[in-house]
Amino acid sequence: SALTLLMIIIAYLFGSISSAVLICRVMGLPDPRQSGSQNPGATNVYRIGGRWPAILTLVFDVLKGMLPVWSSYYLGIEPFFLGIIAVAACLGHIFPLYFHFRGGKAVATALGAMFPVAWEMALLLIATWVIVFRISRVSSLAALITVSLAPFYAYWIKPKYTVPVIMISLLILWRHQANILRLAKGQEGSFKRR
Ligand code: G3P
Repeated sequence: SALTLLMIIIAYLFGSISSAVLICRVMGLPDPRQSGSQNPGATNVYRIGGRWPAILTLVFDVLKGMLPVWSSYYLGIEPFFLGIIAVAACLGHIFPLYFHFRGGKAVATALGAMFPVAWEMALLLIATWVIVFRISRVSSLAALITVSLAPFYAYWIKPKYTVPVIMISLLILWRHQANILRLAKGQEGSFKRR
């Protein structure tokens, strides 16, 4: 319907807002697209500016996935299309309209988009990420294992969302090409144990 199409566009526009770039700009930090891993995401903002700027980036990137899907749910849009709206938010983060279509990897945005439709699944994804990160101290590895398991979680908990979840997982895996190469060569940076 027209409403679904409108929400897909709104989700893309929301996703396009790069929290990492804006927060670094406001806080006087270097542009995350030019330093560290050159990725505009919470992980790289942590490298550049430490805990608080990273937490803010994470919260805003989660929110921009969450808000459009949540609104669509209340507007009565059916489950499969909620999944497509989630994909649109992730595509916005990856190919942002306002930032020359050069965005991030959509890990936080995808998580936010899962919350309104399948909070049990969102919690399971967070638990998976945290466990892998605590063992490995590598953010990209935690994301890669989490998104690889996500379609199985979806099939198990919310089968209606399996197809959109597979789409999002493939997008996130594809955006981690450089990380996968570094992991394979044993060159991916890990965070210090605290
Ligand atoms: O969420 C992005 C993370 O998985 C990897 O980030 O900066 O290490 O490439 P980065």
